[in-house]
Amino acid sequence: MQPADFIDIHCHLLPGVDDGPKTLEQSLALAARYAGAGIRQVFATPHFLPGTIWSASPEQIHSGLDRLRRALREHGLKLEIFPGMEIAIQAKMEKRLDKGCYLPLGNSGCYLLEPPLEGRRFNPLDPVKAFTRRGKKVILAHPERSEFFQRHPEILRRARSRDLALQVNIGSLLGHFGPGPRQTALQLLAWEAFDYLASDAHSHQGRRPPNADDWRRLRELVPPEILRETAAENPARLAAAARPDPR
Ligand SMILES: [Fe+2]
Repeated sequence: MQPADFIDIHCHLLPGVDDGPKTLEQSLALAARYAGAGIRQVFATPHFLPGTIWSASPEQIHSGLDRLRRALREHGLKLEIFPGMEIAIQAKMEKRLDKGCYLPLGNSGCYLLEPPLEGRRFNPLDPVKAFTRRGKKVILAHPERSEFFQRHPEILRRARSRDLALQVNIGSLLGHFGPGPRQTALQLLAWEAFDYLASDAHSHQGRRPPNADDWRRLRELVPPEILRETAAENPARLAAAARPDPR
């Protein structure tokens, strides 16, 4: 696959809602990076962690997205952005799910859920049942960064199903998050047990989308058919399902 075929299903692109871009200008700089690489579609997935400052409502996310889309048009940048959330997994999620506090990935009906990074005992898959029991599809965001799954990667392998998919961070495979996430990401790769590769970009610098050197290193690590499937084909199916915009 070509880097331009990449569709990023996990990035922090909206201004002022989490630890991603602080301003519209910074959001535009990140969007320009995607557009400049020929990438046509991304999902904007701000953190959602109730009780913290990272708790933008679906309405706030939609209005931030409208602002960014207008700015993109004004700057002649072509990038289709779908709304979403990176929803922190917490002990009880049923009520918020039923009240519509969680935003799925566009119109796909699929939710991006983030396991806690720390904690060896709490199985992050327990609260996820609130979603799958209601027939909702779930993508686990970078489970390889979770201490629990680093200790029990086989649980991830077993849990993958029609309703539960796994998204690995490109940076985890490349070692940007240290040896634990890298080892678990490589284990999932060896098992061919993940569905999506995404950037989890937070900025046009620092935690940014993959550059040419990252793609070169990825091609050395990931067999071409798996790279195509997880970075382009599966994300393209999700983007197709995400249309039309839910509003
Ligand atoms: Fe993220």
